Amino acid sequence: VSLRTRLLLALAYVLLLAIVALEVPLALSIGERVDAEVRSQASNQALLVAACAADADDPRECQGLAGRAAGNVRGRVLIVDGQGTVRVDSAGTATGDFGNRPEIAAALAGRTFQERRRSETLDQEILATAVPVRGGGAVRITQSVDAVTRAVNRARLGLALIGLLVLAIGLALGYVIANQVARPLSRLEHAARQIGEGDLDARAPVEGSPEQRTLATAFNEMTGRMARLLKGQQEFVADASHQLRTPLTGLRLRLDEARAAGVSPEAEAELREGEKEIDRLAATIDELLILSRAGEHDAPGELVLTADAARRAGERWRVGVVDTGVSDQRVWCAPADLDRAIDALVENAVNYSPPGSEVTIVAEPAAVVVLDEGPGLAAGEEALVVERFHRGSAGRAGAPGTGLGLAIARELMSRWHADVKIANRQPGPGAAARIDFAKASPEAP
Ligand SMILES: Nc1ncnc2c1ncn2[C@@H]1O[C@H](COP(=O)(O)OP(=O)(O)OP(=O)(O)O)[C@@H](O)[C@H]1O
Ligand SMILES: [Mg+2]
Repeated sequence: VSLRTRLLLALAYVLLLAIVALEVPLALSIGERVDAEVRSQASNQALLVAACAADADDPRECQGLAGRAAGNVRGRVLIVDGQGTVRVDSAGTATGDFGNRPEIAAALAGRTFQERRRSETLDQEILATAVPVRGGGAVRITQSVDAVTRAVNRARLGLALIGLLVLAIGLALGYVIANQVARPLSRLEHAARQIGEGDLDARAPVEGSPEQRTLATAFNEMTGRMARLLKGQQEFVADASHQLRTPLTGLRLRLDEARAAGVSPEAEAELREGEKEIDRLAATIDELLILSRAGEHDAPGELVLTADAARRAGERWRVGVVDTGVSDQRVWCAPADLDRAIDALVENAVNYSPPGSEVTIVAEPAAVVVLDEGPGLAAGEEALVVERFHRGSAGRAGAPGTGLGLAIARELMSRWHADVKIANRQPGPGAAARIDFAKASPEAP
């Protein structure tokens, strides 16, 4: 899970916890509070009507007040006389004896009564409030509780919406903050990638929190030191090869002169072998120099036709070239690097296969393959022979070499995301060495 997602999840968790802790008790108590308010309002209205009825000669004088009270509580108000007979009904329909209703019976007995119960006639939950009238009689208020429940639900819905809104705003802010935290890290990653690809001058921007700035600074210092070390190493190899080459030239001249001075045929043969050794040493020094430079960003990339590169190598080495009908496929690399790598493969093919056998360069869409008819590789040798200084069975048996050719080819091609491999030809005999690009690119990356 990415850092950004983690931060957002943590924030959502904390926000949810806070919202639940604050809102759940409120939502629970809202029901009780609204209920208590409704009950006390009903009692007050009932007492008001009862006071009027007690003072009036005829309860019907309180008809108007009863109507208003009914409107206030959105219910129905009844005034009954001492025998339980309805005298006033705000709904204007009830007549007769209501004395057997439990709340009216209680009020007639002088008690204030309030209860929620199910009304069979209305088929709904109602709140019944009844109070006694001084001097005989009672006032009863009935109201539906469904309305109360609806009001409570509305209030709870409102709370839930506020909670959601807070969560949404919190997460939006969190997203911004998470981005601010993650951005310096992804820039650092970008710089690390650039450096990994060989651009040793790339640096991470120093930005963000103090910790992130310290990290970027440390990273940049490390990169700087690494670049200096690498440069030092390359300079050392360059200097060393230069220093070695001068005495080698001197040595070669001395051997020449010794030969010219006239020596016995045996000594002459030894001197010739000595010159060959000098050539080998000089070649090794050159290759080491190239290896130490690989990984530097020098030659710029361009779009190269694999078929062109194969044709050029064919001309250099006078070997056959096969274009597998892909002449419009290009790869991204420095042409000089590709030429050098192909040369290493063709040189091997020519060196290690018998005279008169055929060497072929094949151009594929994103690869160049060199095929020969030589001895091929011993079992399990494929990965080893690409290592530096490693010579395989054919190498040890055949022409002298240093074991650096394939390593150099691989090093040069790795810059261009291409892989160098060698394996036995299927079907054999012979070896197939390949330079495989990650992909053919229709345009510059
Ligand atoms: N076409 C081939 N057929 C058989 N074996 C091969 C072939 N190409 C390479 N090899 C084996 O791989 C080994 C390593 O090859 P590489 O080119 O790296 O070094 P080298 O040819 O020995 O020396 P040099 O540094 O002079 O090229 C060789 O010694 C040889 O054993
Ligand atoms: Mg070689």
